[in-house]
Amino acid sequence: MCGIVGYIGNNDSKEILLKGLEKLEYRGYDSAGIAVKNDEGVQIFKEKGRIADLRAIVDETVFAQTGIGHTRWATHGVPSKYNAHPHQSTTGRLTLVHNGVIENYDLLKREYLEDVSFQSDTDTEVVVQLIEKFVYDGLEVEEAFRKTLTLLKGSYAFALLDNRNDETIFVAKNKSPLLVGVGEGFNVVASDAMAMLQVTDQFLELMDKEMVIVTKEKVTIQSLDGEVVSREPFTAELDASDIEKGTYPHYMLKEIDEQPAVMRKIIQAYQDETGKLAIDYNVAEAMNEADRVYIIACGTSYHAGLVGKQLIEKMAKIPVEVHVASEFVYNMPLLSENPLFIFISQSGETADSRAVLVAIKELGYKALTITNAPGSTLSREADYTLLLHAGPEIAVASTKAYTAQIAVLSILANVTAKYREQEMDFNLVKELGIVATAMEALCDSKDQMEDIARDYLSVTRNAFFIGRSMDYFVGLEGALKLKEISYIQAEGFAGGELKHGTIALIEEGTPVIALASQADVNLSIRGNVKEVAARGAYPCIISMKGLETDEDRFVIPEVHELLTPLVSVIPFQLIAYYAALHRECDVDKPRNLAKSVTVE
Ligand code: F6R
Repeated sequence: MCGIVGYIGNNDSKEILLKGLEKLEYRGYDSAGIAVKNDEGVQIFKEKGRIADLRAIVDETVFAQTGIGHTRWATHGVPSKYNAHPHQSTTGRLTLVHNGVIENYDLLKREYLEDVSFQSDTDTEVVVQLIEKFVYDGLEVEEAFRKTLTLLKGSYAFALLDNRNDETIFVAKNKSPLLVGVGEGFNVVASDAMAMLQVTDQFLELMDKEMVIVTKEKVTIQSLDGEVVSREPFTAELDASDIEKGTYPHYMLKEIDEQPAVMRKIIQAYQDETGKLAIDYNVAEAMNEADRVYIIACGTSYHAGLVGKQLIEKMAKIPVEVHVASEFVYNMPLLSENPLFIFISQSGETADSRAVLVAIKELGYKALTITNAPGSTLSREADYTLLLHAGPEIAVASTKAYTAQIAVLSILANVTAKYREQEMDFNLVKELGIVATAMEALCDSKDQMEDIARDYLSVTRNAFFIGRSMDYFVGLEGALKLKEISYIQAEGFAGGELKHGTIALIEEGTPVIALASQADVNLSIRGNVKEVAARGAYPCIISMKGLETDEDRFVIPEVHELLTPLVSVIPFQLIAYYAALHRECDVDKPRNLAKSVTVE
């Protein structure tokens, strides 16, 4: 949540910062700002709303070779211009942008800053005022910044400007992502490499509790004790075209369409030289040794985890529990003797999941992270990582990461099963290939999905997604997709559970979208459809080839029964997309949300 950028070099920083913020807008988009510094001092431009709103108020005539910027997802203080970053100290000497949450800001305010009159409700302003206090107590800015950092509890990625120093951006990181990009005669700072690919593909990874002095010629990384750390840059393996929409109207549609290619990439990435599926030996060993697997995740990744449980239990025969990360720490179940934790996270930065990772590491347990983001916090802090190979997912609503997570979980389950010499009666490489082809056919059915969205969801206030077995889990994901981007109140239910209370909500015309892709429950889910139809619902049945009847609205190509979620979710993604489009919602940036949820 929140994204920060910085530039110091010979070119005008404004445009680089604004372009960088546009690429980080997925991290939050309720307000934004930049501070640029030239001989006349620091000038701040900030605005409530999107980067486009900020761009409109930036004075184009200002030329400044140093600057920092921020796009915000509000935590402390309402979305507003006065709470937007950058924040300045009272004298205007220091200017700060921040991603993260300072937990002890109130304590620090009372202990050190009683006389200060604050201009915003943010924790960030407390930090910049504190640095200024230490400067006016006699410390150099670098030392004042360092001293402040040692007092902070919580997460931060900071970029700080000193009005009296043209040469430097001061940077620090703890638990929030931050990279320094290096170039010829310039250096940059960014929450995500994507923001600065416009100027460099060489980046330095920063570790927690590191402070960095960035000038246009040099980057000096230090520990909080002042010890200099040497580190080599890495090349960000991102194609600039991966982060552009191209001819697509929205990232979400582009990412839905990328799913067949992602499937093929995953198959390739997890094949050994003989063509057999393979994962790191240590991961297979850790799975084999576990007497129980605990999957921890949030939102869409949690829904992928529910499918993952079935895959692991059915193939590898290891019991699995799936938990919502934000609840796990308080409601920790009695753990088995030898558990293995699997964290599923597209971004690898989700704070709720990280809190569990920290807790279970303290208990001495092993963790595997399944993520799309190599080098992310969850990847670095776990013992093992399996990558999704899905390419950057920019739309806030997750699509290709969900199917990639399920595909990687199926490979994990399959390889573990072989490792444990469980009998396997299917060839996963072949079956995932069939999935990729079926996905292509589904992506070509956009017109039919648009028709369904128009017929069922144009005017309704609510909608239900029902299914049984695997289809229930996909229904949960279908409902989440629909509600988050179209704001239709949508719920996913197990087909059999509806009659235990929720059926009371069915009225004349209530859309009920039923998934029928599982042979063993085909008749029972159709029975549930009849129950709701008898009470006035407007049912839409999406079934799988081989199980279809004349009443079905759409039939999905057949794939292996364990892999059906990989394909059955695509109609739901497209239906949600078109429903949001018809309702003129902002598909890629739905209200109140951010892509990467780095606060608990
Ligand atoms: C919904 C969505 C979210 C994320 C959740 C976890 O479309 O994207 O529900 O799945 O915030 O995020 P990650 O997977 O990054 O941990």
